[in-house]
Amino acid sequence: MMERFTFWNPVRIDFGKGAASHLPGLLAPFGRKVLLVYGGGSIKKNGIYSEVTEQLKKAGCSVWELPAIMANPRTTKVLEGIDICRREGIDFLLAVGGGSVIDCVKAIASAVPLEDPRDFGDRLYIKKEKITSALPFGTVLTMAATGSEMDCGGVITNWEEHRKESYGNPLLYPKFSVCDPVYTYTVPKNQVIFGSVDMLSHTMEAYFSKPDTPNVSDDIAETLMRGIISNLEAALQDLHDYTARSNLMWLSTLAINGLIACGKKEDWQTHQIEHALSAFYDIPHGAGLAIVQPHYYRYIYHEAPEKFARWARSVWHIDGKGMTENELALAGIDALQSWLKKIGAPTTLKEVDIPAEMADRIAPTVNLLGIGYGKVSTEDIRKIILSCNEE
Ligand code: NZQ
Ligand code: ZN
Repeated sequence: MMERFTFWNPVRIDFGKGAASHLPGLLAPFGRKVLLVYGGGSIKKNGIYSEVTEQLKKAGCSVWELPAIMANPRTTKVLEGIDICRREGIDFLLAVGGGSVIDCVKAIASAVPLEDPRDFGDRLYIKKEKITSALPFGTVLTMAATGSEMDCGGVITNWEEHRKESYGNPLLYPKFSVCDPVYTYTVPKNQVIFGSVDMLSHTMEAYFSKPDTPNVSDDIAETLMRGIISNLEAALQDLHDYTARSNLMWLSTLAINGLIACGKKEDWQTHQIEHALSAFYDIPHGAGLAIVQPHYYRYIYHEAPEKFARWARSVWHIDGKGMTENELALAGIDALQSWLKKIGAPTTLKEVDIPAEMADRIAPTVNLLGIGYGKVSTEDIRKIILSCNEE
């Protein structure tokens, strides 16, 4: 039986070639003082910056800028943004970038109204205090990966304390997201791979959880997984393949906008392990997921072998003739890992220079969610991280 659920996602998506021309209309209901937030400079090289600033001009906005948001964005950068917003009386935030830029904007938006926003990291991301207001913001997505453009959560790293934590609140849905697949043409190949691993992982985090009785969410999830696999392979053949790029962009959004979570418990333990790894080693999120996911599944698959066997058949097209359910389940996990290797993702910690002995230090910092099939302990997590050194 499906779990009870509420599905409510108010984000307006303007999708397709030239969608940035909608910006003046999208911005019209909001104040004119806009903080433009972007990353390390890719948008200046590929022309997105000029296109967006031209639209902001047409919209009659006064624009302040917060550049240089780093991948795995940090609390220190959020504080810079908070200062500008409070000093200048900013009305609206516009994130132009991938998940890191969008998540940084979500953190700024939630912290600015706090009486003392300087301890936002502790209050929101650690103690999970509920916010009662947030600055409105929109996004111009430049990379298909996290789905942050249509969810209400974000992830921020406190590098000094080696903690990477998430925060979610319905006030943190973007007011709109502009998604032009052409904008993703210049994303470096390794980031295209990491982004696709991330969306595949989001789909699996929902799929591999109870209930397993027939349900629409799992059926849609299988379609999304097959789509991510085939469209990534097509995009890697031709980075300017519009069909593949547009499918990947929409797949990344659908993977985490709540649709396939309807009626499901969800898992998210792999994400917790990855966040802990990148809080110590600053590796790309998708790279960490590629390493952890198959090892985590080998550790817990026996809790739901029939579901892993179903997935092996429907997503990896293994017919399973003559195999036991357990063998088929393991064959599916092997297929996932072989595919990750084939596309060029790392599958062991040594490929990203994380020494095995760090498992002792990292495992105690991993949040234990206990909602997936296997309720894992800190000791289990230590073993899973250690197993990530094996091929
Ligand atoms: O910084 P710039 O110069 O823009 O370059 C970026 C960055 O180096 C580059 N890039 C993005 N669009 C580009 C481009 N380069 C050329 N052309 C373009 N069009 O790509 C690099 C990676 O960008 P980043 O935003 O860091 O990647 P991603 O979208 O994967 O975001 C990762 C962050 O999101 C968090 C991750 O943990 C990580 O901190 N996540 C957020 C989630 C959410 N809000 O729901 C869920 C996820 O599970 C995830 O945890
Ligand atoms: Zn993710």
